Amino acid sequence: MSTSSDAPTTPADRAQGQTLWGGRFNAKPAAIMQAINVSIGVDQRLWQQDLAGSRAHCRMLEKQGIIAAADAAAIQSGLDTVEGEIRDGSFPFRDAYEDIHMNVEARLAELIGEPSGRLHTARSRNDQVATDFRLWVRDACDRTVDQLQGLQRVLLARADQHAADLMPGFTHLQTAQPVTFGHHLMAYVEMFGRDASRFADARTRMNENPLGAAALAGSPFPVDRDMTSAELGFDRPMGNSLDAVSDRDFALESLAAATICAGHLSRLAEEIVVWMTPMFGFATLPDDLTTGSSIMPQKRNPDAAELVRAKTGRILGSFVALSTVMKGLPLAYSKDMQEDKPPVFEAFDALDLAVAAMTAMIGVIQPNTENMRAAAGAGFSTATDLADWLVRELNLPFRKAHHVTGAAVKRAEALGVDLSQLPLAELQSLEAGVTEAVYKVLTPEASCASRQSFGGTAPEQVRARIVEWKTRLS
Ligand code: ARG
Repeated sequence: MSTSSDAPTTPADRAQGQTLWGGRFNAKPAAIMQAINVSIGVDQRLWQQDLAGSRAHCRMLEKQGIIAAADAAAIQSGLDTVEGEIRDGSFPFRDAYEDIHMNVEARLAELIGEPSGRLHTARSRNDQVATDFRLWVRDACDRTVDQLQGLQRVLLARADQHAADLMPGFTHLQTAQPVTFGHHLMAYVEMFGRDASRFADARTRMNENPLGAAALAGSPFPVDRDMTSAELGFDRPMGNSLDAVSDRDFALESLAAATICAGHLSRLAEEIVVWMTPMFGFATLPDDLTTGSSIMPQKRNPDAAELVRAKTGRILGSFVALSTVMKGLPLAYSKDMQEDKPPVFEAFDALDLAVAAMTAMIGVIQPNTENMRAAAGAGFSTATDLADWLVRELNLPFRKAHHVTGAAVKRAEALGVDLSQLPLAELQSLEAGVTEAVYKVLTPEASCASRQSFGGTAPEQVRARIVEWKTRLS
């Protein structure tokens, strides 16, 4: 949707256009005033919320006898026409009318004339924009929850497939202990589950209605704020009119949730990048989700994963931008707050793309289970299992067992073998009581299978968590 800047020039235009607030003004805004003031290019995205708010307000005004039924009917049908025009692209978005609220009202005036001027009774753009924006952020949170649950479902399906396939678990990106690929994917199911619940929590807190706060002090008209709350799906009217028009904590809270979620996405994205590097060789993405290089024909680049990783910057940047705008603003509304929308729109657009791209990648990523299995057994990944065996079977204190195992690793390294290939005599020279039975715990399969603690990596545990999550998401 494009905007044009034809300023209202005729008296009629002036009466209905810029002079929506221009009664006491002798001059039209300077070009620079208009340039810094205009927001229609951004806030036209609020058109559906703005129409919903106006319809609810109009019905309430009529029911309360604040405006006549005939005027209300004219306004409602005018708003229908506005909606039709916006949908078919013929609505004239005009810079001269500053923002979405005045563009709609100005157009309404052109369409229905005098009754349009009654819609703004008992309302200010301050409570209007606070309402519109809350509705938009609420929808965005709902969409994000749906999207995250979609990603969780794909992760669950892949985790199910690979619940028993081994890979190395890392700490410090050094081989630590074997885990299963399914277990690894399920870690993200948990993270995205908490992310979704953060958006849901934010929604609950934000779901109060600012409409009726008017400019800042409330309204002298007998408005029914419970009625507009119910019409707009809010739980209740906000309890303080100053707060209603002047806080944007709901947007900040959503951006905080988005930032944390973007952080989780970026970690998974980073892992995909690492898994795909040929030195790891843990996974590949199909052609249609990778890109090539214009100079190096051998390349298969995980650009989508890299861009998911990078979106975190924009999203956190949005949080920083809005919290900086809000910091130190005196009550109630200040025009600074018009700068609330670009960061929120940008962050949710970025998050939307990132979750969608991640969902696509997880759906088709091809783990190289042989490479993962080989790596899971390498790097002395079962050293802890050896130490635990010494504790369990020979009753060594763990610290002593840790030391003996360290010496065994050192010896194996010197001989160029893995722990499971270290001759029994070598182990016995370090700790006399060791028997053949120890080898049973030194495979990565045994290591994983033994980790039966709740939430551990044993395939039964992983499958049990998958079942639980499937129920939660169904
Ligand atoms: N476009 C404005 C915004 O987004 C609407 C509210 C304007 N209010 C005012 N008192 N000038 O914040």
